[in-house]
Amino acid sequence: MRIPVIIGLVLFSLFLCMYSPCHASRSEIEYLQKMMNSQSSSLGSVLDANWKHLNSKDSFFSSMSIGQKDGSMEADKVDSLPRQPKGLEFNQYAGYVTVDAYSGRALFYYFVESPQDSLRKPLVLWLNGGPGCSSFGVGAMLELGPFRVNSDGETLYANEYAWNKVANIIFLESPAGVGFSYSNSTSDYKSSGDKRTADDTYMFLINWLERFPQYKGRDFYITGESYAGHYVPELADTIITKKKNINHTNINLKGIAIGNGYFDGVLNFKAMIDYIWTHALNSDETHEAILSTCNFTSGNFSEKCYNALISASMEIGNIDGYNIYAPICHVLPKAKNKTTSSMKEIDPCAEFYVIAYLNHPEVQQALHANITGLPYPWTVCSGLDWNDTPITMLPTIKKLIASGIRVWLYSGDLDIVCSVTSTRYFINKLNLTIKTPWRPWYTNEEVGGYVVGYEGLTFATVRGAGHMVPRNQPERALAMITSFLKGELPPIA
Ligand SMILES: *[C@@H]1O[C@H](CO)[C@@H](O)[C@H](O)[C@H]1NC(C)=O
Ligand SMILES: *[C@@H]1O[C@H](CO)[C@@H](O)[C@H](O)[C@H]1NC(C)=O
Ligand SMILES: *[C@@H]1O[C@H](CO)[C@@H](O)[C@H](O)[C@H]1NC(C)=O
Ligand SMILES: *[C@@H]1O[C@H](CO)[C@@H](O)[C@H](O)[C@H]1NC(C)=O
Ligand SMILES: *[C@@H]1O[C@H](CO)[C@@H](O)[C@H](O)[C@H]1NC(C)=O
Ligand SMILES: *[C@@H]1O[C@H](CO)[C@@H](O)[C@H](O)[C@H]1NC(C)=O
Ligand SMILES: *[C@@H]1O[C@H](CO)[C@@H](O)[C@H](O)[C@H]1NC(C)=O
Repeated sequence: MRIPVIIGLVLFSLFLCMYSPCHASRSEIEYLQKMMNSQSSSLGSVLDANWKHLNSKDSFFSSMSIGQKDGSMEADKVDSLPRQPKGLEFNQYAGYVTVDAYSGRALFYYFVESPQDSLRKPLVLWLNGGPGCSSFGVGAMLELGPFRVNSDGETLYANEYAWNKVANIIFLESPAGVGFSYSNSTSDYKSSGDKRTADDTYMFLINWLERFPQYKGRDFYITGESYAGHYVPELADTIITKKKNINHTNINLKGIAIGNGYFDGVLNFKAMIDYIWTHALNSDETHEAILSTCNFTSGNFSEKCYNALISASMEIGNIDGYNIYAPICHVLPKAKNKTTSSMKEIDPCAEFYVIAYLNHPEVQQALHANITGLPYPWTVCSGLDWNDTPITMLPTIKKLIASGIRVWLYSGDLDIVCSVTSTRYFINKLNLTIKTPWRPWYTNEEVGGYVVGYEGLTFATVRGAGHMVPRNQPERALAMITSFLKGELPPIA
């Protein structure tokens, strides 16, 4: 379940030591420091330069092949996934869309329509973060898609709280280099970043709509989680700016919803420290030592600060930083026999079942995936060199609020990595007027979480969920996203 989040990744392995012997390495901390330094020093220029390209009638448009007929809806139709449960009636499609013909970059998508009345339902794009993690393997197969994988790594079971109950959903493996998405110029993997990810995703949408023309003009929402706290606002900004300049009306963007988003490196780090302490995961002494010795703004960590961070790591012990009260995966799945899984229990090893399933040749064939014979197996997350990342999403989110689209930030409250505290610090920086004060919301006569309606933005928590809200609290997550799509606050009772 490693979903690295630039700084989160480092801190996460630093604090939680899940994937390596339990001692924080100096190089991880140095990497963090380097990252923060480079972010701080380039802050001004990143903010200015980042979206400058959008305002020109751009070069990338002319070099791209918009609307090329390199595929068809019929060819992308998936009759059924190998060993999927019977009795589920909805259309599913999968395949590649070329986003850069010159380099040979193609993105893989999986699209599920709603079983009922799909023509009247909105179109939703789901993006996982990382950067480098798969929206198909994580988003569809562990979180909100119609199927999950049993512990045999062979058979599927139904997710009764799948989001395609309320929308038609595209899961996009992005950027190139993630999952089945690839580039024929492998040097592209060394030059990944926020800007190209937004451009490629935009090209994907334009071309995808040529393949699925019945979705042109349909109400469209962008959703995602974690580092998609960058992807989602950046893509929304790209769409809005392009629309102004190029008069594209095919993409009818109505809103965005981001879960446990990574919005601001400095706030996220500070929130992580506060979250750990307020959730009784480390000592008062260590917390005090971190606060008095670490300068999160400069990212220039003193020796004392390093030592305090290492103490915190030791004090926390071996827990899942993405869901502090969840079990961790101890038993390697190979040793396990099939158990039929349940929506009620989180199986912490489930990502291994997904890895096994998606690497079966017949599964890839059914999905029209890996048609070029990629020389490596499918993985949940890929290591990509990341070249541009603004340190904060504040200006972009402000712009989106001003544009009038619906903006929701939601948050599972058991996550350290992109904590609910981090989202609250970020929202406080926006200085918005409260329209509907903090109140509980309900599903099934239980408090599903809490919600605050601001002028231009809604903040909702999902109680008892970690980083991956629809995985941990599927029923509450579906209730929350249903309200989002309706443009209503989640239910009072
Ligand atoms: C990548 O190269 C393979 C092999 O030449 C080719 O079949 C495929 O169409 C190329 N992909 C793209 C997106 O150009
Ligand atoms: C945009 O497109 C619409 C519909 O095709 C047209 O009526 C309008 O004049 C266009 N606006 C600009 C600025 O080109
Ligand atoms: C932290 O670093 C920033 C930027 O280098 C600096 O302006 C600030 O004064 C520092 N804060 C403390 C408490 O040292
Ligand atoms: C980092 O902090 C040390 C003192 O802890 C100071 O000597 C050094 O100049 C600082 N470096 C930067 C780039 O601010
Ligand atoms: C798996 O099932 C087989 C046959 O039913 C049994 O022999 C074996 O001991 C089981 N293995 C585990 C790890 O439960
Ligand atoms: C693609 O297929 C090849 C076999 O042709 C396989 O070895 C490789 O692991 C697959 N890669 C991915 C990303 O699925
Ligand atoms: C926050 O909003 C209030 C009321 O709109 C305004 O008076 C105040 O100056 C704002 N503060 C900041 C930091 O923007």
